[in-house]
This record gives sequence, C-alpha cells and structure tokens, in this order.
Amino acid sequence: MPSCPRSAPHHRWILRLWLPCLAAQVAALGSQLTIDASHPGVSVSPTLYGAFLEEINHAVDGGLYAELVRNRAFNEMAWPGNWTVSSQGGATLATGMDPSEHAGAQSSALKLTVTGIPANAAAGASSASIVNTGFWGVPLSDGATYTATVWAKTDGSYSGAIAMQLQSNSGTLLGSVAFPAPGSSWTRLTAPIQVANPRGQSDDNAVLVTLNANGTVWLQMVSLFPPTWKGRPNGVRPDLAEALAALRPSLLRFPGGAFVEGYDINSRWNWKITIGDVIDRPGHPGLWGYFSSDGMGLHEYLQLAEDLGATPVLAVWSGYSTDGLIVPQSELAPYVQDALDAIEYANGDPATSVWGAQRAANGHPAPFQLSYIEIGNEDELDNTLAAPDSYNAYRFPMFYDAIKHQYPYMHVIASYGENWLTTPVTSRQPDLEDEHFYEPTASLLTDSHKYDTRDRSGPQVFVGELAALDFNTTAPQEPARLNTLGGALGEAAFLIGLERNSDLVWGEAYAPLLVNVNNQAWLPDLIWFDASHVVPTPNYWVKWMFSRHRGDVVLPATADEASGLYASVTWRRSGRTIVMKVLNNAAVANAATIAVQGGLELNPVGRATILTAASRTGQNTFDSPNQVAPVESAVAGVGSSFPFTFPANSVTVLELKSKCVPPRARLAPELAAPCRAER
Ligand code: AHR
Repeated sequence: MPSCPRSAPHHRWILRLWLPCLAAQVAALGSQLTIDASHPGVSVSPTLYGAFLEEINHAVDGGLYAELVRNRAFNEMAWPGNWTVSSQGGATLATGMDPSEHAGAQSSALKLTVTGIPANAAAGASSASIVNTGFWGVPLSDGATYTATVWAKTDGSYSGAIAMQLQSNSGTLLGSVAFPAPGSSWTRLTAPIQVANPRGQSDDNAVLVTLNANGTVWLQMVSLFPPTWKGRPNGVRPDLAEALAALRPSLLRFPGGAFVEGYDINSRWNWKITIGDVIDRPGHPGLWGYFSSDGMGLHEYLQLAEDLGATPVLAVWSGYSTDGLIVPQSELAPYVQDALDAIEYANGDPATSVWGAQRAANGHPAPFQLSYIEIGNEDELDNTLAAPDSYNAYRFPMFYDAIKHQYPYMHVIASYGENWLTTPVTSRQPDLEDEHFYEPTASLLTDSHKYDTRDRSGPQVFVGELAALDFNTTAPQEPARLNTLGGALGEAAFLIGLERNSDLVWGEAYAPLLVNVNNQAWLPDLIWFDASHVVPTPNYWVKWMFSRHRGDVVLPATADEASGLYASVTWRRSGRTIVMKVLNNAAVANAATIAVQGGLELNPVGRATILTAASRTGQNTFDSPNQVAPVESAVAGVGSSFPFTFPANSVTVLELKSKCVPPRARLAPELAAPCRAER
C-alpha cells in the first residue's frame, strides 16, 4: 500500500492510490442506505442554495468592491488616515482638510499647497506627493490596465501637472498618468494606466498623487480600479467574484445583517445615499467598526445579483438599530417610504417612475426584477428593549401592508434572527421568515430534523445565516486555520435537512461570506482573502458540492444516523440522475450498502465527489489553500444494491445515472417520463 497522504489528492489518477488508504480506515461499520425511487417526494426549492453578502470583515470595501485606494475621498478616517506625505528636490507640502471646499456630496476636500520648487527645476527633480498603501496592499499585475480617477480643482495658482503614479514600496515606478491642472471648478480627471511590473504581480505597492509645481490644489477623490468582474464600471474584484460565482448561488441577500441596522440611526444602511456617481455618495459609519464608502450601493448589489444569476433579496432598515433605538409608530412612515422607493428604484418603469428613471440614468434601464424584500434584521431582539414586541406590533405590519398594497407581487420576509430567540410575527403572515443558525456541530446534527415536523401552513423558511461554531480557536497565528472540516460536516448535516424539507425551506446562506484576513470582525467565515489571495474553507466546499449537485425532487431515503450517516437523495430530471448527498460524521469509514428500490436500471458507473481530510480539524490556509478540497472519481459496480465506502469525516455526493427505462417499468411517472420522451 502507498503511504497515505494527510488529505485527499487533487488529481483523479492519484485517487486510485488513495482509495486503499480510505479502505484502511474502515471499521466494523456497515450501514444500509435505502432509496425509494418509486415514491418521489417534495420538489426541491430552485432557490435553495444561496449567498448572503454583508459589509463586515471588510468584505466589501477592501474586499469584493474593487477600489484599491483606501480613504479615497478623505472621509473614512481623519486626515491623514491611510495617507502619508512625501516631497523631494526642495519641495514642501502643506496639507489639511478644508471644510469650505467639497465636490459632490462630500463634506470637506483635501487642500494641498506646494512651495519650494525651484523655478528652474529639471523635470521630475522636485515634487510633492500624497501616498496611499491601499487596503493592506495595492495589488498590481504586469500588463493589466487600471482606471485612475482624481477629482481636483485649483485656485489658479497651480499650473503644473496632477499625476497619479503607481509605485512599488521599494520605489520602482510601475505606471503613471499625468493630467493638466484643472481650473477653479471641480473636475473629474480620469485615464487608464497600464502597469509594467517586473515582479509580475505584487501587493506591496502604493498609489501616489504627485504635484510638480508650486501652488494650491484641492483633491476630493483619488481612485484606482483594476479590471473588474464582467468589466462593470465601479465593479467587483474578479477573483472573489469568481469564487462566489462558482458556488452558483440562486439567491443573494444583501447588504446585511447588522450592517443594515447600524449601531444608531445615522449608521443604518440608507440606500438613498448609496446610488449615483461615487462623488455623490458621502459614505457612512458602518456597524462593524469601519466607515463604509458605499461605493458598492443598492445599484451595484442588484447588478451583482443579476450577474450571478441570483434572485436578489434586499434587506431594508426597519426602524431598529443595535443601540436599542426603536422608531415610534408615529415616526416610522418615512422609513416605510424608503423601502417602497427602493422597490421602485429596482423595478420602476423609467418612463413613468422617478426612481426607475434614476436607475436607467445609472446605467440599467431594464428592471432588476426584485421580488423579495426583508424587513430589518434579527428584529425579534427588540423583545428585550424598552418597546418590546414593536416588530410584531407595528413595524413589520406597516412595511408589510404598504409593500403588499403597492407591489402585491413582492415576497415580504420577516427577520427573526437567531433560532433560540425566535418570537414569531403573528400580526401578519409573512411570506417567509428568516431564521439564523450559529451553532456547534452537535446542534446542527440535531437540527437537521428541525423542519421535518414544522407546520406547512405558515410562512416559508429562509435560513438567511448559517454557520457551525466549530473552529479551532487555539490554532497558532494563521487566522484561516479557524474554519475546520468539523464545522463543515455540521453544516452538511443541516443542509441535508433543509434539502429534504425544501417544500418549506425556500433558501439558505452561510454567514459571513467573506473576511479580509487583516480585519476579522466575526469568525468563522466562508471565504478568506487578502489583497490578492483567496482561501476557500472546507465550509465553502460543502456549499460548492451541494449547490452544484442539485436535483428536482426529493426521493425518500433511510440512512443510519446512529452510525453517523445523514443523507438527502434527489432526482435530477435532466440526465435521469439520482443525486445522493451523504455525510459520514463518524471518525471511521462506513462500508455501506446502497439499495435503490423502484425498478430503475442504473448505469454501472456512477460518479463520486468526496470532501474529507485526515481529521475533523482539517483546514485550508494561505500557505496551503487547497489542502481540504473535493475530489471526484468514478464509482464502479453501481446497481440496485451495491457497496460504497464513505470515508471517515466526509461529505460525499454520488451521482447515479439511470439508463433509459421501458415505459412498462413500474416507476413513478416523475422518474420515467423523461426517458420516454427520449425514445
Ligand atoms: O453574520 C454576522 C452577524 O450575525 C449578522 O450581521 C447578524 O445578522 C448576525 O447576528
């Protein structure tokens, strides 16, 4: 036998060598897993596997939102936050915020006064710069074209150039552009910069704005964009967007979470200040400890959902913030109107609707097809506050009634928050209720049956936030070590339960989706990243496996949970395929027998996708981002009863294709029909 690797090999041909290692882990366990193909059950919700994007952990600014300059409008931090000043050749630069000047909706511009440049200075010999090192680095790639933008004005005293320079931290110029000085009106200067980076790609770089003459200049916005995903202006970072797109999310909930609530009324998510040209977005203090530029605003979130092919789920402020503020009933109407206006922005006809026309002016004449709106976030928490039950008493009803009156097609979601605090809304029947689960793996295993007995006459369920609290807090240094395979196994159990109940459960999403390794406000998280690296966690791979292997209808199946096996089995009409999702939560392999009842004639070769690791503490790190990842292989010997060994601590997707079945076979019409159609 070959020596056994600590985790699954990544190439299919090596897997054959690895299989004996799996077999070696087989203990006495030998379960029966029975599928009844003759009694198809409920349909699988087409939106079941989704995503939730919240501005937390610098998920957006310094993350998915592709802007590379931090504190670009000088409003995120007090000057000189994240900027430094440098000068050479006798130049002196005086800087400071000037509240008497501003461009767009900003409140104060940066004033720069250069002195000391000799009249006869040789070109480039004397200059002054402000320098920005981005969000923990400025990633620059050789040959790529970046978009430089600077908003500037002068008082007539400055007639030099305003240059943007891209420079390595060791001083190598990687690209630049120079704009002639504008006049005394605010002017948007913008041009492409092609980078020539001798290192190919590097993050330890800076963005400089350089002045080469004496005089006074005001700057308001210094922006640098790399090429974006799908080439969208003001768009998103391709590597992170690709990682998200690879999950094939069917829904996208945004932009929070507690980020929507804010810590007070001023830090709530007010979508109306997040649209239009970015110079007209003042930004706002965010709940998670940093300022939000709102460069990614309502329009960009809707665009992202559209680009992902995901149903947008917009969360709006509901009159409650985390400091305990609850807007009284008599003062709530303007916030209800904000929600109505958001729907109008997303869907309104530009010819007849003011907000629809605004959307068209912002580059999207067609409606965004918004049909799901969530009222607030974890609003049952108000039960503990001075005005208990305000959500049930008047806040949810006011939003619900107004939205249903004007937009009867909208699905209105009540946000209950954490599972164990739930106090249902009874004053109206919400279309859906959003329930959040942050639990240890053991609880998620139990809760995989949570919805088996839920009354189907109530609202549908949206599990808008889900994560196993199973992570290695003792791991040294490397923060990405915090997400473990063990947590991913717990989530697999829970997802298996959701899929089996997806007549009731409309959708789910992990939370939080993204974390910049330099700013972890919340642990654990699905995707870790820094300026140029992306680390998918084991939890990511479970979602990837489940979302990319969907069926249309649930098939009854019995698995031996006492031995650690949890299963959801579905039938996918296209390709006449049984799709099995099986968790083996045991620390030993399970040499199971799979029995498929119902007369299907199965192709003898199936396909397995397996996620496992040497132990439940298996992790991906920035140094080894692919240590725990799914491996695909062919499965021989498939039939109406066949053996399959589920590795210890593993999640497996098995795809079993059925051959064309003669119409006389006694199968549920659901299963036989596509086959007949092909004859
Ligand atoms: O996902 C992190 C936070 O957890 C969300 O903002 C909030 O809804 C929940 O409490």
